[in-house]
This record gives sequence, structure tokens and C-alpha cells, in this order.
Amino acid sequence: MGKHLFLILNSILLWWWSSITISKAYSQNQTDRFALAFLKNAIHKDPFGVLSSWNDSTHHCEWQGVLCSKRHLGRVTSLVLRSQGLDGFLSPHVGNLSFLRVIFLQNNSFHGEIPPQISNLLRLHVLILSNNSFGGPIPSNLSRCLNLENLNLIDNQLVGRIHSDLGSLTRLKLLGLSRNRLVGPISRSIGNLSLLQQLSLKDNVLSGGIPEELSRLKRLTFFQLASNKLTGEVPAGILNISDIILFSVSFNQLRGRFLNDVGTASPSLYGLSAQNNLFTGTIPSTLSNVIGLEELYLANNNFHGPIPKNLGRLKGLYTIELGYNHLQDDLSFISSLVNCSNVNSIGMAVNLIHGSLLRSFSNLSARIERISMSNNQIQGSIPLALGNLFNLTFLDLRNNFLTDCIPHSIGPLSNLHKLGLGGNMLTGEIPSSMGNITLLNVLHLSSNFFQGHIPQSLGNCKQLIGLALSNNNLIGSVPVEIMDLSSLSIILNLANNNLSGSLPLQVGSLKNLGVLDLSHNRLTGLIPASISECLVLEGLYLEANSFHGEIPEALRPLRGLQELDLSNNNFSGPIPSFLAGLLLLKYLNLTFNQLEGQIPKGGVFLNGSAVSIYGNTELCGGVPSLKLSLCKSSSS
Ligand SMILES: *[C@@H]1O[C@H](CO)[C@@H](O)[C@H](O)[C@H]1NC(C)=O
Ligand SMILES: *[C@@H]1O[C@H](CO)[C@@H](O)[C@H](O)[C@H]1NC(C)=O
Ligand SMILES: *[C@@H]1O[C@H](CO)[C@@H](O)[C@H](O)[C@H]1NC(C)=O
Ligand SMILES: *[C@@H]1O[C@H](CO)[C@@H](O)[C@H](O)[C@H]1NC(C)=O
Ligand SMILES: *[C@@H]1O[C@H](CO)[C@@H](O)[C@H](O)[C@H]1NC(C)=O
Ligand SMILES: *[C@@H]1O[C@H](CO)[C@@H](O)[C@H](O)[C@H]1NC(C)=O
Ligand SMILES: *[C@@H]1O[C@H](CO)[C@@H](O)[C@H](O)[C@H]1NC(C)=O
Ligand SMILES: *[C@@H]1O[C@H](CO)[C@@H](O)[C@H](O)[C@H]1NC(C)=O
Ligand SMILES: *[C@@H]1O[C@H](CO)[C@@H](O)[C@H](O)[C@H]1NC(C)=O
Ligand SMILES: *[C@@H]1O[C@H](CO)[C@@H](O)[C@H](O)[C@H]1NC(C)=O
Ligand SMILES: *[C@@H]1O[C@H](CO)[C@@H](O)[C@H](O)[C@H]1NC(C)=O
Ligand SMILES: *[C@@H]1O[C@H](CO)[C@@H](O)[C@H](O)[C@H]1NC(C)=O
Repeated sequence: MGKHLFLILNSILLWWWSSITISKAYSQNQTDRFALAFLKNAIHKDPFGVLSSWNDSTHHCEWQGVLCSKRHLGRVTSLVLRSQGLDGFLSPHVGNLSFLRVIFLQNNSFHGEIPPQISNLLRLHVLILSNNSFGGPIPSNLSRCLNLENLNLIDNQLVGRIHSDLGSLTRLKLLGLSRNRLVGPISRSIGNLSLLQQLSLKDNVLSGGIPEELSRLKRLTFFQLASNKLTGEVPAGILNISDIILFSVSFNQLRGRFLNDVGTASPSLYGLSAQNNLFTGTIPSTLSNVIGLEELYLANNNFHGPIPKNLGRLKGLYTIELGYNHLQDDLSFISSLVNCSNVNSIGMAVNLIHGSLLRSFSNLSARIERISMSNNQIQGSIPLALGNLFNLTFLDLRNNFLTDCIPHSIGPLSNLHKLGLGGNMLTGEIPSSMGNITLLNVLHLSSNFFQGHIPQSLGNCKQLIGLALSNNNLIGSVPVEIMDLSSLSIILNLANNNLSGSLPLQVGSLKNLGVLDLSHNRLTGLIPASISECLVLEGLYLEANSFHGEIPEALRPLRGLQELDLSNNNFSGPIPSFLAGLLLLKYLNLTFNQLEGQIPKGGVFLNGSAVSIYGNTELCGGVPSLKLSLCKSSSS
């Protein structure tokens, strides 16, 4: 049907155009004017009205986005319509604009195929169609456009393979096919594009190996193959290309010890990105020869051994991501960064790093914003000097062997967004100066030996979305100030402490909270009715406290509740039937209370393994797997 309509439109347009008389001065060649008219006609949306100048009162060489040849009157040489919000398809008539040298149509909403007729444009030097929604394959005959220097089809929905014919476009300097759905291998013929400077193939589904032939591309500066399904090893010669600036093969399934080849012959390398692969071997000290290196991403591989101490020679280092490997180091690597005044981010999580933070931290640049060293074997106390790193936004030291108190000097780190010190052996009180870190989003101090009260000052951290203080020795009541933090949305976890007193009424302020865990404390009293305002709660854990009273009606509005644990308390009275109406509830634990009466029918109570009710006084009914006696009479 679409084709039929198109034919009709075609003939209407032809009739329309042939009836136009154009002033003599412009009357040279009508072919391009026809083609442009068809182009316009295939565009359905033109929100900025760029095509309104494409009308019969002006010569097509004066239409917006159209440039014509000076020598060949009326012949179009450039089509420049980028970022115009244009929605439609690219008419096959584009192939008639045979003098076109340049097409800039990036950042619009073109869809449909790239018309194969585009390969008739033998003079084409630049074809940029990036950030549209073109589908279908890369036109196979594009290889006829031997003058192409810049072919950029990045960020479309192209499918199929990279045709080996592209290898005949020997003038190409830039080949951009990233962010499409291309499959199959990287053609060896690309190695014939001897003028190529930028090769961008990331975010596709390319498989197979990286062809050896690519190391013949001696002018290559950008080599971007990340996020594909590439296997095999990195050909040694590629890192020998002396002009290379960016080398990125992250998020593939590559293996081997390619790092050993780095550093001998790539002095201009600025970014080296190889994370999330299967690379092995050690990090060679020759890496320090890559004197311009600023970004180093090696996380999530199988690298082992020490981190070379001479990396501190790389004065421009900005990001170092080495997390999730098997690196063994005593942190002297950090001390060696004393001259790297630009260091912004250090990632070493999940390795075998040991040693003490004391010396190393004092040498770090005050510019640093991110330190991630969780899940290592770091010992000793948190250095006072930490307080000098004013620009820190992210500090994760969870799951190490840190001891002693948190220094008060942490308070001035007013830019911190995330602070993770959980899973250590820290002691003393949680410093009240933490309340000065008012930008905190996430504070994780669980699983330490903290004592004393929860500082009320944490109530100043009005941006907290997650707060975890569980598994410590905290005493006293739950501060009202914390219950007032309506920003809390992910979790409030105070479980496994010695907190006492009742649950403050202010719990109703936690209107955005997903999980509230107060289990295993010494809390008493009733569940306040205000809990009915915590409308997005998905998990409520109050087990192993001394709450009493009936299971409150106030839980009825919490329709998102998936897990509710009230076990090991002193709740009494009946199990309210509205619990059967909480349709998402899949875990309900009421064991060891003094509940009595009939098990409600329906909902979570239909699934015997979702409900635990043993250890109560006098319950009856329910599905057989609950093993309760039948109720005497339904009215009782
Ligand atoms: C216009 O251009 C077309 C295609 O190049 C050519 O075939 C035709 O002869 C030209 N017409 C005139 C009047 O120059
Ligand atoms: C035709 O294009 C000219 C030049 O851009 C413009 O001034 C005029 O308003 C347009 N006419 C119509 C009917 O859109
Ligand atoms: C893309 O086009 C939109 C208008 O449609 C514009 O707002 C945006 O800035 C453009 N993006 C770039 C990167 O040019
Ligand atoms: C222009 O292109 C269309 C479609 O590709 C074709 O049908 C037509 O014959 C071509 N030539 C002219 C002069 O319009
Ligand atoms: C891509 O295009 C969309 C919509 O036209 C726009 O919102 C977005 O900013 C563009 N992205 C880039 C990287 O140009
Ligand atoms: C590609 O070109 C060949 C010859 O140059 C031609 O036979 C074929 O029809 C063309 N294919 C397309 C899709 O244009
Ligand atoms: C590369 O070019 C050479 C010489 O033109 C040619 O013999 C060879 O087949 C080409 N290689 C590939 C893989 O296309
Ligand atoms: C790298 O380049 C050097 C000198 O240019 C050369 O000796 C060496 O063989 C090359 N290595 C590889 C793997 O191509
Ligand atoms: C830091 O720079 C100073 C002065 O250039 C130099 O003496 C020292 O050895 C350097 N330290 C490191 C670890 O590179
Ligand atoms: C901290 O960051 C700010 C803003 O990014 C910057 O201006 C300042 O120089 C940095 N401080 C230090 C000590 O580098
Ligand atoms: C931090 O907060 C405390 C109160 O908790 C206050 O006395 C102190 O002056 C604050 N320090 C800084 C550096 O803001
Ligand atoms: C229910 O709670 C009791 C006591 O807290 C616990 O022992 C039991 O494992 C829980 N049931 C389930 C299914 O987790």
C-alpha cells in the first residue's frame, strides 16, 4: 500500500513541477530540483520549518541547507540539514544529486533504509547520517563512492554485516558504525584503508577476532571496538601504531596478555580501555612509558601481580580503574602518585590489596573525587589526612580490615555523596560531624563495632536516599531526626543493634522509602498508625523486637508490600484479613507472637511456603501445609 501511495505522490509531484515556470536566470538544470522536491516530500515532520524555504518562489540553490556548484550551475554539492528534528525517510531520489560532495543529515529522525541509490553519488566525500533511526543494511554498493573520506552512520539501527567491499574505500579517514546492530566479523579488508584515522565500531554485536590486518593502519588515532562480542587476542601490532590516542576494546570477550605490548611505541596514547574482558598477565612497568596516558580502564579482567610503582611517572593520569582483578599490592602504588596532580578517580575494588592507608592517602592530590577500594585486605585506621581531600564525592572502603574510630576530620568532606565503610572493624561512636556532609546520598556503616547513639546530626543529611547502620552495637532510641528524612528511598537499615524505645511517630515521614529494617533490636511499644503513610514500602522487617499490640490496620494501605516480618515480637489478637488483599505480598513471617483466631483466606495465605505462623497461641484454619487445626466454627 505504501508503495502504491508513493507512486501516486510521485506522479502528482512530477506534474506539479513541470507546471512551474522558473525565472530564466536560474533555469540551468532541473534534475536536482526534482530530486530535492522528492526529498522534501519524503519528510513528514519539519518542526523548525527549515524546509519552508524549499518552495517554488526561490531557486533551489537558495533553499536552506542546499549549496550549489559555482562551475556547474544548478547542481547541488552540499546537503546540510543537521539537528532539524526532521522525521521521515530519505528519498531514493537523493541518488540523482550526482554532484553531491557532502551530506550532513545527523541528529534527525530519519528512518527506513539508507537508499542504495546513494551509491550513485560518485563525488561524495562526506556522508554523515549519525543519530537517526535508519534501519536495514549498510548499502552494499557504497563501495562505489570511492571519494568517501568520512562515513559516519553511528547511532542508527543498521543490521547485517560490515561488507568487505568497504575495504575499497581507500580514501576513508573516518569510519563510524558504532551504536547499531551490526553482526558478523570485522572484515579484514578494513586493514586496506591505509588513510583511516578513526575506526568506531562500538556497541554492535560484532563477533570473531580483531583482524591482524588492522595493525597496518598506521594513521589510526581512534580505535573504538568496545561493547561487542569479540573474541581472541588483540593483535600485537595495533598498540604499536604510534599515533594512536584512544584504544578501547572494553566489554568484549578478548583474552591474552596484550598489555605487554603497550608502552614501547604508542607515545600519544591518552585513553586505554580494556575493562570487562578475559585479559590475563600482569600490569607491565612499561606502561609508564605511555607518557601521555590519562585514562586507564582495566577493571574486570584476570590481571594479577603487583601494580607497578612507576605509574606515578604518568603525570597526566586522571582515571585509574583496576577493580575486580587479582592484583596484589601494598598500596605503595598510591603513594607513588604523589606527582600526579590531576588524579580524579582511583578504582581498586575487589582485589588483593593489603597494607595501611596511612601513608598513601596523605600523598594524594586534593583534586581527587572518587576512591573505590572495597573488598580488599586493607588494614589500620582511617587517616586524618583523608579530611584534606575536600573534593571527594565517592569513598568506598567497605569490606576491609580497617580498625579504630572514624576521625572527626571526615566532617569537612562536604562534597561526599557516597560513603561506604561497612564491613570493617571500626569502633567508637559514629562522629556527629558526619551531619556536616549534607550532600550525602548513601551512607553505609553496617557490620562494624560502632557503639553509642546514632547521632541526631545525621538528620542534616537531607539528601540521604540510603542509610545502613546495621550490625553494630548502637544503643539508645531511633532518632526522630532520622525518621524525618523523607529523602530516604532505597533503604533504612538499623537492624542488629541494641536500639531501644519505641518506633517514633515520625516514621510516617518516610514517604519514599522502599525498605525499612529495624529487626533484631530492643524496640517496644505499638507500631504507630502513621506507618500508613509509608506508601511505597516493599519490605518491612520488625522481627526480633518487643513490639506489642494488634497487627495494625495502618498496614492496610501499603499495597506495594512484598515482604513483612513481624516474627519474634509480642503481637496479639487476630491476623487481619486485609493481609490477604496485599497482592504483592510474597513473604509473611508472624512466627513467635501471641496471635490467635482464624487464618485469613486468599492472597499470600494460599501459599503455605510464603507464610510462617508457628509459635503463636491459638491459630486455626489455613491451607493444609500450615498444619493447623480446623477452626471450631467460622463465626468464632
Ligand atoms: C542535467 O543533469 C543531468 C544529470 O547530470 C543530465 O543528464 C542532463 O543532461 C542535464 N540537463 C541539462 C539541461 O543540462
Ligand atoms: C518561500 O521561501 C522564501 C525564502 O526563504 C520565504 O521568504 C517565503 O516565505 C517562502 N514562501 C512560502 C509560501 O513558504
Ligand atoms: C540534536 O537536535 C536537537 C533538535 O532536534 C537539538 O536540540 C540537540 O541539541 C541536537 N544535539 C546535538 C548533539 O547536536
Ligand atoms: C531519479 O531517481 C529516481 C529514483 O531513484 C528515478 O526513478 C528517476 O528516474 C531518476 N532520474 C530523474 C531524472 O529524475
Ligand atoms: C540524537 O537525537 C535525539 C533526537 O533527535 C536527540 O534528543 C539527542 O540529543 C541526539 N543525540 C546526540 C548524541 O546527538
Ligand atoms: C550494485 O551495483 C551493481 C553493479 O555495479 C548492480 O548490478 C547492483 O544492482 C547494485 N545493487 C544495488 C542494491 O544497487
Ligand atoms: C587489500 O588490498 C590488496 C591490494 O589492493 C588486495 O590484494 C587485497 O585483496 C585486499 N585485502 C582485502 C582483505 O580486501
Ligand atoms: C613494533 O614496532 C617496533 C619498531 O617500530 C618493531 O620493532 C616491532 O616489531 C613492532 N612490534 C609489533 C608486534 O609489530
Ligand atoms: C616527584 O617529583 C619530584 C620532583 O620532580 C621527584 O624528585 C620525585 O622523584 C617524584 N616522585 C615520584 C614518586 O615520581
Ligand atoms: C575541587 O573542585 C573544584 C570544582 O571542580 C575545583 O575548582 C577545585 O580546584 C578543586 N579543588 C582542588 C583542591 O583541586
Ligand atoms: C560539624 O558539625 C559540628 C556539629 O555536629 C559542628 O560543631 C562543627 O563546627 C562542624 N564542623 C565543620 C567543619 O563544619
Ligand atoms: C520466620 O521467622 C523465624 C523467627 O524469626 C525464623 O526462624 C524463620 O526462619 C522465618 N521463616 C522463614 C520462612 O524465613
